[in-house]
Amino acid sequence: MSEAILLVGGKGTRLRPLTVFTPKPLLRVAGVPFLTHQLARAAKAGVTRIVLATSYLAELFEQEYGDGSGLGLELVYVTEKEPLGTGGAIRNAAEHLTSAPGDPVLVFNGDILSGLDIAALRDGHKASGADVSLHLTRVADPRAFGLVPTGPDGRVLAFLEKPETQEQIITDQINAGCYVFTRSVIDTIPAGREVSVERETFPGLLASGGYLRGVADDSYWLDLGTPAAFVKGSADLVRGLIDSPALPGPVGEALVLSGARVHEQAVLSGGTVVCEGAVVEAGAEVDGSVVLPGAVVARGARVHRSVVGRQASVGAGSAVREAVVGDGAEVGPYNELPAGVRIDCGVSLPAQAVRVSAPVMA
Ligand code: GTP
Repeated sequence: MSEAILLVGGKGTRLRPLTVFTPKPLLRVAGVPFLTHQLARAAKAGVTRIVLATSYLAELFEQEYGDGSGLGLELVYVTEKEPLGTGGAIRNAAEHLTSAPGDPVLVFNGDILSGLDIAALRDGHKASGADVSLHLTRVADPRAFGLVPTGPDGRVLAFLEKPETQEQIITDQINAGCYVFTRSVIDTIPAGREVSVERETFPGLLASGGYLRGVADDSYWLDLGTPAAFVKGSADLVRGLIDSPALPGPVGEALVLSGARVHEQAVLSGGTVVCEGAVVEAGAEVDGSVVLPGAVVARGARVHRSVVGRQASVGAGSAVREAVVGDGAEVGPYNELPAGVRIDCGVSLPAQAVRVSAPVMA
């Protein structure tokens, strides 16, 4: 018996408009809701019971997974009336754990794709006697993150704010969003109010002499919080750069789910996924992108590292790059959109005049 808490209550604001109707953990990544990859990995690591800490669009989680038996798990749903932050959510969810005070409890952020050896983190935690074990990942450019230096024995020395100068970059280790708590430590988090585990709970435990153990590794790690990371994570799963027991097809340059229609003269590349009910027409090129259920990429359109939302369409001859086309939005034919645009759900962009390069008359 091994228990976990999964934090899935965030609003996912950085991914809007994708998260207007679908919470971030339920967005399709490589063809299935992102959470399915995480649940399958947890089950494979021997986790048997998971409390899902929900808040934003809470009811959609139970609709998707029911009691969890389809994944070989027992799932329990807890909903915060007002979002309690990461620490408050852990405390609130813990009321539904069955673990004894000394047992290890895994806690996962619901938006991290990682190759972490979950069982090793949990088992190492038990052996160490730590209050909390934190998965740490090393990043090439630590400037955008709070830093977590550790001593030679792996003991966490500090939780540092984002560095502002070169001298402040004393480590490349950051919090990777997966922890093991000794159950009794969760019960010390204040109940009934907003708490940030990163900003309040961990620094507080350290200040009061707690043993926080950092486990840094070089496994695959990606926070799927932004559109660029979201499409990268999906493409990496499709191409097999990170394993998932939940990938709904063979690894390759593209994944076409059953019920999707892709014309034989369309070109799919770079880990593109085309979900059920979606259509990619002749001459279209779709590279490193996510085409969600019911979307249409019309004749000759080019879609590069973008998400085309549910029932959305990219018109004939149009080009989108690093874009998010919200659910039900329509990009009319022959639009060349600037890189990085986000088109709100249901918005229609009119067709552009077809540009024909006429020969210059002498
Ligand atoms: P952004 O709004 O784009 O920053 O995304 P987010 O709302 O998901 O926030 P963030 O990426 O910081 O959250 C990290 C993890 O904690 C995600 O899995 C969130 O679902 C989860 N989370 C954040 N805040 C809460 C909360 O108040 N309650 C619960 N239950 N989960 C939360």
